[in-house]
Amino acid sequence: MLTLWRNARLVTLTGESPWGWIEPGALVVDDDRLLWVGDLRRLPRQLPITAEHDLDGMLVTPGLVDCHTHLIYAGTRADEFEARLHGATYADIARHGGGILSTVRATRAASDDDLLTAACRRARALLAEGVTTLEVKSGYGLTYNDEARCLRVARRLGETLPITVSATYLAAHALPPEFAGRADDYIAEVCAWLPDLQSAGLVDAVDAFCETIGFSPEQTRRVFQTARRLGLPVKLHAEQLSDQSGAALAAEFGALSCDHLEYLSASGIRAMAAAGTVAVLLPGAFYVLGETRRPPVVALREAGIPIAIATDHNPGSSPVLSLLAMLNLACVLFRLTPAEALRGVTKCAAQALGLSDRGVLAAGKRADFAVWALDHPRELTYWLGGCRPRRVVSGGREVIR
Ligand code: NIG
Ligand code: FE
Repeated sequence: MLTLWRNARLVTLTGESPWGWIEPGALVVDDDRLLWVGDLRRLPRQLPITAEHDLDGMLVTPGLVDCHTHLIYAGTRADEFEARLHGATYADIARHGGGILSTVRATRAASDDDLLTAACRRARALLAEGVTTLEVKSGYGLTYNDEARCLRVARRLGETLPITVSATYLAAHALPPEFAGRADDYIAEVCAWLPDLQSAGLVDAVDAFCETIGFSPEQTRRVFQTARRLGLPVKLHAEQLSDQSGAALAAEFGALSCDHLEYLSASGIRAMAAAGTVAVLLPGAFYVLGETRRPPVVALREAGIPIAIATDHNPGSSPVLSLLAMLNLACVLFRLTPAEALRGVTKCAAQALGLSDRGVLAAGKRADFAVWALDHPRELTYWLGGCRPRRVVSGGREVIR
């Protein structure tokens, strides 16, 4: 069964030009793969096409990839949002047992089904914008059972919705109250839980929060050593609120990505460039927390480091459910070009997850794409709200039309 999508303006994001335009373009889908992508006039005649769609000149981009979210949790932290508007800081709130730990309390008390229902609602909002691949971190359970539960919910999310879900183990997110004053003991547990979770097929990558209010570089290193022994890729919440040299540490372990990076140093940039680590910028958290120090975009660009953009959806620093809005913020706040921003939620975001089978429109890649009634792809970064794909295809199946 081959399906032809004809008369498209393709934004392939392949090749050297910023957008990788092909017009008039065509895609041939074979099951969940792109069999052929190119100029409609060169479509091989012998292909046994069984179904056809005329896209009437609409734009087609790769399916979007949200490569950093904390989607699985219960409750909200709207009260902390309000407290910050009255002068409290994110770090103060965390030090007084609020912040991540308040979401941990709510998450531990919630049932698996309630966690799944809430996560589905959030993921549907992203899917409606063309997101076909989503990373989801644990990190609001912080016991073996609660971390396992959240990772299982992540797997169920991927079975429930037509979205690929990549699950990241982030037990090193905050120190749970049972371990107060014993961070090293907690890290030993975090390392001890990982082999079983991996054997259960629940972990695609390992992350940590390396920060004064999170874990030290030494503690992060222990988590990474465990991941390395198990052959799991790592990523890191690095240099968000201060420079801990976390990026260089992550790069030493060949990290897929370092995320946030407002306080990234020149040596961190060099280490990331040498390791081929992706920089994931999270303008939602920057904006919501009212940060003023921007990640070093010019230096990242000069170093040739791939830049990805994500929602960082979480109830504390980034209650954001629009990846398209993050494109606009990345351009306005961080001065990315529109083409860089779009690559940041497709090609580079896929790279940040180690998924080489998506993020561009090319033969052999997964048939994940979104169809837009727009004149130009730069409009995806220009509108702030109101932009929705006309159709979304995920793994070859039309899931929004
Ligand atoms: O990426 N920085 C740590 N983790 C999240 C925030 C989590 C929370 O506040 O609940 C982040 O911003
Ligand atoms: Fe995060």
